[in-house]
Amino acid sequence: MYYIGIDLGTSSVKLLLMDREGNIQKIVSREYPLSFPHPGWSEQDPYDWYRESMEGLKELTSEIDRDKVAGISFGGQMHGLVILDEKDEVIRPAILWNDGRTTEECEYLNNDIGKDRLSGYTANIAFAGFTAPKILWVKKNEPDNFRRIKKIMLPKDYLAYRLTGVHATDVSDASGMLLLDVKNRKWSSEMCDICSISTDLLPKLFESYEPIGTLLPSVAEELGLKSSVVVAAGAGDNAAAAVATGTVGDGNCNISLGTSGTIFISQKNFSVDSNNALHSFCDANGEYHLMGCMLSAASCNKWWMDDILRTKEYAAEQQNINKLGENAVYYLPYLMGERSPLNDPAARAAFIGMTMDSTREDMTQAVLEGVSFALRDSFEIARSLGLSIPRSKVVGGGAKSPLWRRILANVLGVPLDILKTEEGPSLGGAMLAAVACKEYASVEDAAAAIVSVVDTVEPEPELVKKYEERYKKFRLLYPALKEAFPKLG
Ligand code: XUL
Repeated sequence: MYYIGIDLGTSSVKLLLMDREGNIQKIVSREYPLSFPHPGWSEQDPYDWYRESMEGLKELTSEIDRDKVAGISFGGQMHGLVILDEKDEVIRPAILWNDGRTTEECEYLNNDIGKDRLSGYTANIAFAGFTAPKILWVKKNEPDNFRRIKKIMLPKDYLAYRLTGVHATDVSDASGMLLLDVKNRKWSSEMCDICSISTDLLPKLFESYEPIGTLLPSVAEELGLKSSVVVAAGAGDNAAAAVATGTVGDGNCNISLGTSGTIFISQKNFSVDSNNALHSFCDANGEYHLMGCMLSAASCNKWWMDDILRTKEYAAEQQNINKLGENAVYYLPYLMGERSPLNDPAARAAFIGMTMDSTREDMTQAVLEGVSFALRDSFEIARSLGLSIPRSKVVGGGAKSPLWRRILANVLGVPLDILKTEEGPSLGGAMLAAVACKEYASVEDAAAAIVSVVDTVEPEPELVKKYEERYKKFRLLYPALKEAFPKLG
């Protein structure tokens, strides 16, 4: 039997075919456009997601006996607002997780409604990328669109709907909407009232590993798959990546260096950070997790390489970097504003500290270091809550760079485990499909059978010391620029 995981990402959809033993048989990736209609806004067309996922599914299964595909599930970019009308047509482009247009709505929610009430209802406060503030933005700025809303869903849920005809979501992804009572895993009627929506507009809630339905006959026919293929609810991409890295149970940590950068700590029991700097979300295994999310991580390096240096030779650019811990150049990674822990959509990226002898290598190194320092900011919040994080796993596109892994291990001062596969969310999606089809009794069982650590990057005491000093200096920079950022326009 085969299981398919679909990682509906921000720059592309990645589809992964896994056999019943957890071996990866094939991976297919297809890109789609991302648009920035105004500085700080970020949108995508859900029809692009569907079209490219369907093409990807055909390519993924082109060389196998398609009758052996048993289940499909997802890891999806979180928080995106997808709104459908009475005919289930998309009303406007999806407003994505890294969109910063909702400053006013977040101020209203956090200050007028109040952080304590929000945290009481949902275990979280408003961040610009979360879904509820976007609903308020549509209500105020696009009242005609708001009136037409008949369904509100998250990106991967739109795909699941097109495959099955079922309006569903899972509790891990729903946690990032600011509409879920995370502790009790049910919609918050108070939050729906605050957003002027009825709970009927929201999809039905499932655990990530539960089946939501089977393929629509027309979809099954187009794909050449059986219509009995089970579609499981899936998870937000970080919770799905946590499944794929075995970050389940109590106190395990995974870091994802993808477009966003996240630190994810699995928890058996529900808990909330009293300052709400870390998100408190449901986990894909029926439990909970805490997470810090920076908006631009590997995307900083991609921007620096592709758009500024205009090269695709990432490894060659990193090859001559040999002054770790001694770079005079600093980089603030806030290309899209920042979420965790700053909660500041107006923050912007910056290079600081250059002199006449600064080199191209120094700048590239500063980008990798700046992202690592900003991740450490969330790491420090977790430590300040008394959580012990003796080691972490690391996945995502950025984790493919040995240099970046080494910098990160030394900036955080903990060993970083490298896994046999870095395919976080897509593998997690396939594992959730396998659990839904009863191939494994639980998410934990699937992780124990499939996940394996192949290497560890150990922190080096000398470098840890040097990076400790540099991190102290990095910490001076955002406060010094904070007041200036909103005035830059
Ligand atoms: C998590 C978050 C990002 C997106 C990226 O809160 O916003 O990690 O899920 O796809």
